[in-house]
Amino acid sequence: MKNKFLRFGYNSTFTVLSSLQKAADDALRNRFLQPALSITLLQLQKDIKAVRSFYKHYEKYQNITGPLKKKISLVKKLQIGGGERYLKDFINLDLFPPADIIWDCRYNLPFPDETFSFVFSEHLLEHLDFPVSAKNVLSEIYRVLKYKGELFIGVPDAGKAIRAYCSSNKRFLNGLKKSSYNHRQPPVELYGKMDLINYIFRDQANNPNYTIHYWAYDEENLKNLLISVGFRKIKKANFNPDYCNPKRKLYTLYIKAKKL
Ligand SMILES: C[S@@+](CC[C@H](N)C(=O)[O-])C[C@H]1O[C@@H](n2cnc3c(N)ncnc32)[C@H](O)[C@@H]1O
Repeated sequence: MKNKFLRFGYNSTFTVLSSLQKAADDALRNRFLQPALSITLLQLQKDIKAVRSFYKHYEKYQNITGPLKKKISLVKKLQIGGGERYLKDFINLDLFPPADIIWDCRYNLPFPDETFSFVFSEHLLEHLDFPVSAKNVLSEIYRVLKYKGELFIGVPDAGKAIRAYCSSNKRFLNGLKKSSYNHRQPPVELYGKMDLINYIFRDQANNPNYTIHYWAYDEENLKNLLISVGFRKIKKANFNPDYCNPKRKLYTLYIKAKKL
């Protein structure tokens, strides 16, 4: 993405987004608002917040200097979309704090080619529109990886969830219910197994920093996407306690892939 484009887009985009955000805020205060519309407006608010956050931090990360630059050269590991799970021996990039770099990964990544030897991302990809942003972030990860560098990626395992649905695998379905979606509406006691499938495909938590699930993955389509951007030696991987989130272990598909 060129600076010129961003400078041009900055003012006009900000004006439009500010008006949209104000309109959404006003509409959401109306307690008679149709529920479907309020879900749409909430999502709009979140996307606007993400874009504004990106513009706010854009200049800062165009040319990384100082302690952050030093940390990048020392750790050579990047986590994207770690959220609250700040990994101290990684550079952490996320839309929201406490990341080292507040950045929207739907735009290109703010690093030169071949900066990192390892990139980790868990439960991020499904939050990106498919194929444009999903493919773009994987291409960008490929670009910033060094030769022989590795990507370790985890997504909700939609294939496993569907198999569990079809075979009524109670251990898996109950585990999913308790470990992951227990704070969602409707109350967990009311969930049917189809609700769990719905969460994998279209989670839309009512949290101002949480963006919806846009796309679901199984081993086949995730591998195909990785191949399409250049990755090789793509293999299913095990949960790694050094950096993976324990609460995601049961229902996450982990894949590792190399830049060769
Ligand atoms: C479901 S959370 C996963 C957090 C953590 N990886 C874990 O497994 O517990 C998704 C994370 O991705 C981040 N995220 C979503 N869209 C993003 C984007 N476009 N750019 C950067 N981060 C994003 C969110 O802010 C959030 O921290």
